[in-house]
Amino acid sequence: MLTNFDRVLLVLDDLDRQAVEVEGKSVDASVKSRLNSLSSAYSMLMNVDRSPIDYSSADTQIAYSFRCLASHGDLLYRTLSSAKSAVLKAVGGGSIKIACIGGGPGSDALGFIKFAERNGLEKRKIKFVFLDYEAAWKTVRDALFATFGETSYTRKSVKTDLALGAPWADSWSFNDADIFTFSFALSEVWAFDAAGGSVSKFIDRLISGARAGALFVYVDNGGDAFLPLAEKAIAERSDIVEVFSEDDTWMLIGGDEEKSTLNKYSARYDQSPKITGNVNRRIWKKI
Ligand SMILES: C[S@@+](CC[C@H](N)C(=O)[O-])C[C@H]1O[C@@H](n2cnc3c(N)ncnc32)[C@H](O)[C@@H]1O
Repeated sequence: MLTNFDRVLLVLDDLDRQAVEVEGKSVDASVKSRLNSLSSAYSMLMNVDRSPIDYSSADTQIAYSFRCLASHGDLLYRTLSSAKSAVLKAVGGGSIKIACIGGGPGSDALGFIKFAERNGLEKRKIKFVFLDYEAAWKTVRDALFATFGETSYTRKSVKTDLALGAPWADSWSFNDADIFTFSFALSEVWAFDAAGGSVSKFIDRLISGARAGALFVYVDNGGDAFLPLAEKAIAERSDIVEVFSEDDTWMLIGGDEEKSTLNKYSARYDQSPKITGNVNRRIWKKI
């Protein structure tokens, strides 16, 4: 069984093969500068005057995939594993539908598939719906899903902007999903909730339209900046119960994952993939 880092190595090899120099700057130099600009963007997520983060370029996608794809996938896997019986109950016995809000490069799918492979669900029909404002992430997801070979997993993307106001998404056919994931997605949009409450209203519509028994899996930056906003929008509803809760998790990856798998790229970009960080995690269920 391949680890997340094994898969991310294959993804990076694929993206690296496709990458082209822009304006005479080497691909590695561009990726390095994107790693730095992402770090500074993530340090001011709640600044209401900031612009949305632009993930459209290949160098930004390589930078993000190198840094976060494996560990975010693993953290989601370990969160699902912490509430294994609730997750198995939510997905029932037939086909499974997972809606990844701000699912970007596919980290949430990577995490769910790792859970599926370790819990005998991998032969089931699993449909992933990626709800993201950045269509260009498809290149990374294509490379990621290629690492699974022949499977019964299907995927589609629905252009969705949580900050834009109703109707947010081109289609709401994803609303009957078994599981909705929010992995490092809400922290990136709360700054745009201030003017008109678009993000809160999206969540309200999402939960109101979800079926009883559906799970909402939340993994995001720790501390008090973001979690109270999510709790207000999700946990305080009368149709929601908490299934799993853990604050201040520090290790993002489990002992079966090995970041040295990416040494080739760590040397080229002069940085390490993210394996630690303070996060808050919740799983809520609609009743
Ligand atoms: C930090 S990344 C998280 C990606 C992935 N879920 C993970 O855990 O690695 C944030 C994601 O949210 C998406 N995003 C940011 N603002 C958004 C918005 N207003 N509406 C929809 N998606 C948004 C970005 O394109 C990106 O894929």
